[in-house]
Amino acid sequence: PARMVDTGWGRVSLCSPMRILIVGNGGREHALAWKIRQSPLVTDVYCAPGNAGIAEIADCVPIDASSIVEVADFAQTIKADLTVVGPELPMVLGIGDEFVRRGLTIFCPSRGAAEIEGSKAFAREFMTRHKIPSPRYEVCSSLEDALKFVGKAPLGFPFVVKADGLAAGKGTVVVEDQAEARAVVEQIMGDKKFGSAGAKVVMEEFLEGEEVSFLVFSDGSRVVPMASVQDHKRALDGDKGPNTGGMGTVSPTTNISLEGHKRIMQEIVVPTVAGLAAEGRRFQGVLFAGLMMTESGPKVLEFNARFGDPETQVIMARMRSDVVPILDQCATGSLGETRIEWAKEPAVCVVLASRGYPGTPETGSTIEGLDSLKEWSDVVVYHAATKREDGQVKTVGGRVLGVTALGANPTQMTWADAQPAFASGAVDGQENPMSIFTAAKLQNVGQKTREMLESIPGT
Ligand code: AMP
Ligand code: GLY
Repeated sequence: PARMVDTGWGRVSLCSPMRILIVGNGGREHALAWKIRQSPLVTDVYCAPGNAGIAEIADCVPIDASSIVEVADFAQTIKADLTVVGPELPMVLGIGDEFVRRGLTIFCPSRGAAEIEGSKAFAREFMTRHKIPSPRYEVCSSLEDALKFVGKAPLGFPFVVKADGLAAGKGTVVVEDQAEARAVVEQIMGDKKFGSAGAKVVMEEFLEGEEVSFLVFSDGSRVVPMASVQDHKRALDGDKGPNTGGMGTVSPTTNISLEGHKRIMQEIVVPTVAGLAAEGRRFQGVLFAGLMMTESGPKVLEFNARFGDPETQVIMARMRSDVVPILDQCATGSLGETRIEWAKEPAVCVVLASRGYPGTPETGSTIEGLDSLKEWSDVVVYHAATKREDGQVKTVGGRVLGVTALGANPTQMTWADAQPAFASGAVDGQENPMSIFTAAKLQNVGQKTREMLESIPGT
C-alpha cells in the first residue's frame, strides 16, 4: 500500500515496506545494493543475477541482466515496488519500456532515451540539434565513406574513430595517422569486429584538456547533480597501460571549478535533458556525461545513460541521504526540490583485477582474506566478478573487487594500508590465489590515487 514518507527533504509517496530489485552483477550493483539495504523504507532486496558479495545482503536470482522479459516476469512475481538497472545493455534493449508496459516502476531510461548512450551517431546528431558543445565530427555509414573520410582527413591527426553502438568500452580509438585510421576502420566496418555496433562510425575532432565525469539524477525534467567524481581509466600508474572500464575513483575531485560546474549544468546537462524530453525521449535515470574541459569550455566526449562503475562505489560511500526516495522520484517523475547530502570526507575506490585484464582475464581462482577486511570500519569491499562455489569466493572475470574507503584523512587509510590487510590474509606468493591481483597494479593505482587525494585541499 502507498503511504506518505517524510524523507527529510519533503514528503513522498512510497509503497512501504518496499521490495527492491537490482539488475546487474558488478561492483556498481553491489554498491547500490549496499546503500539501498540501509534504507529504512526497504525490507527486501533482490538482485538479478548479482555476485558473491551481493548475495550476502540480497536475494540473488540467476537471471541474466539482458534477459529483459524474464527480469520483468520476476519483478512481477515478487511484486517489486522498484527495480534499479545498472548496466547499459538491458537499457538499450528496452527493459525500461517492458516494465512501464506492465505498470512496474523502474529506475532506468526508456530505450529511446538510452539511445544517447546506445548510438554515438544519434548522440552527436542530437547534440548538434540542441547546440550542445561537442567536437567537430562526421558520421560515416559505409566502409567506402569512412575510407574516403580517412583519405581526406579533414580533422587532421590525431582524430578519434568511434563505433556507433555498444562495444563494451572498446569501440573508441584515437588514430595517429592514415595507416592506423584505415586499419581501425577496416576492423570495425570491414571485419565487423563489434558486429552491428560498427555499422556506422563517428569520426571526431581530438579534443585536448582535462577530462571530467559529471553525473546527475534526472526525472525527465528536473536534475540533481551528484558529488564530483574522477575515474582512473588506464591499467597502470602514470596514466600508462591500456584503457579499462575504470581502475579506481575518487570523490570529490578538484578538477571542476564552481564556474565549470555552472557551465556544465547550463550548457550541457539542462539542454540535454530538455532536448530529450522535447524529442519524446524523456530521460529518467542517471545521465552521466564524459566531458573535456577545453580552452573554450566544457565539451561532450560521450553520454552514458547509467551509473558509472566504479564511480558509483565512491558516490554511494559518500551519500548521506537515503538513495531510495531519489531513485523512486526519478522513476515516477517527481524529483521536486530534492537536495542530496554528502559526507564531507573523501572516498576512494581501488579496483583489484584479475591478471590479464583488460585483455582476457584469468579466472577460477579462490579469493582469500575477505573476512579480515570486514572488520575495518569505513572500508567496504564491493564485489564485481565473483561467485560463491563450495563455500569459497571464486573469480569469474576481469574486475574482481573494489576496495572503497571513506575517511577524513584517506591518505592514511588507503592502498598502502589496504595491502598488508590483504597480505595478512592472502598475498603470500605466486602460488597463492590472491596473487592474481597483480600486487604491482594495486600499488601503482594506489600511488595514483594518493596523488589524486593529495590534490584535494583540506585533506
Ligand atoms: P568514449 O568511448 O567516447 O567514452 O571514449 C573513451 C575515451 O576516449 C574517453 O574517455 C577519452 O579519453 C577519449 N576520447 C573520446 N572522444 C574523444 C575526443 N573527441 N577527443 C579526445 N579524446 C576522446
Ligand atoms: N567508469 C566508466 C563507466 O562506467 O563508463
